[in-house]
Amino acid sequence: MAKTAIGVIGAGVIGRTHCDRIVSSDFASLAGIADPSPEAAELARRHGVPHFADYRHLLDGGVCAAVIVATPNDLHLPIALNAIANGITVLVEKPVTTTVAEGEALAKASAQADVPVLVGHHRRHNPIIRRARDVIRSGALGRITSATILYTFLKPCAYFDLAWRRRPGGGPVLINLIHEIDLVRHLLGEIASVHAIGSNAVRGFEVEDTAAVVLRLVAGGLVTISLSDAVAAPWSWDLAVQESALYPPQPTAVNTHFISGTVASLTLPTLELWSYKGAVGWFEPMTREKLAVDTGDPYSIQLHHLCAVARREAAPLITATDGTETLRATLAVLDAARSGASVTLNNG
Ligand SMILES: NC(=O)c1ccc[n+]([C@@H]2O[C@H](COP(=O)([O-])OP(=O)(O)OC[C@H]3O[C@@H](n4cnc5c(N)ncnc54)[C@H](O)[C@@H]3O)[C@@H](O)[C@H]2O)c1
Repeated sequence: MAKTAIGVIGAGVIGRTHCDRIVSSDFASLAGIADPSPEAAELARRHGVPHFADYRHLLDGGVCAAVIVATPNDLHLPIALNAIANGITVLVEKPVTTTVAEGEALAKASAQADVPVLVGHHRRHNPIIRRARDVIRSGALGRITSATILYTFLKPCAYFDLAWRRRPGGGPVLINLIHEIDLVRHLLGEIASVHAIGSNAVRGFEVEDTAAVVLRLVAGGLVTISLSDAVAAPWSWDLAVQESALYPPQPTAVNTHFISGTVASLTLPTLELWSYKGAVGWFEPMTREKLAVDTGDPYSIQLHHLCAVARREAAPLITATDGTETLRATLAVLDAARSGASVTLNNG
């Protein structure tokens, strides 16, 4: 099968990850890189592909079957709209856009032009998440009643040299927690209401460094998320699974997600299923079963999926509409923290 030609717009931290996955695959080829920075021009030279300072020249050149948009968030909408106008399938990085209204505009343009948009919530492609979703959907846990998610880690001081990261919108809720919100929706269903408290007590920036979040699910369960980017702790998905080579391995297995139902409970990422095999109740012994899972790099699996979407052989796993719902719920966390009131989303 011919390789699918993919352009990359925005060749910063995550854009370079996408370029690496494309050139090391046997199913995709790198059609070109668009990014005004000199580093991007050098990257394109190293890969032997055309470089464009202006992304429009990549999009109207007729060389891409699909394009990955990995620019700063405020450029996601105009670039994705331009790709759609050129009939090019788009993978737009998370968050899909900066506002819900923009996300809805993107979803509408995608539907009207019949050009697919896939949002880069790459964790959904992780084989661990796929297995967990299958287990939860099979009913093996019974009724999901409670889930606890830890997302605690330490951003180095230099990370905050960029001023936007010290201001509202640049904090761990919009940058990091959005991944957890998307996973909650993907694994456990829609969110009915959001309660949250934010704190900037450690760094004292305008933006939060810590948040405690409680979600009520439409299906009835309650989810608690503990988030902080200012603590020396390994309990975060990124550190536990090392989807990116940026994170070092941990000395021992780390669990970050504890999903509890009336019949059994599941930990992630270790995929341990805890249940009673005989008599039930807290005076009885529980059994721990380690579920098997294929290994696989979610960015490569996502890329494979993007190629299938571009060939119209698959529908996007996460559409612009779906990505917008994740953004809506994430913004609701900030609203709830700011106002001190709960925010109602779906049938809440
Ligand atoms: N899914 C993930 O795992 C993941 C991880 C990190 C970042 N992201 C998302 O990816 C996006 C980029 O994040 P990053 O950390 O790579 O940022 P970054 O700042 O490292 O890179 C952004 C790049 O965009 C380029 N750029 C700026 N204006 C441009 C324009 N007009 N046309 C083309 N390129 C332009 C910059 O020169 C830079 O190279 C953000 O939306 C972020 O939320 C996703």
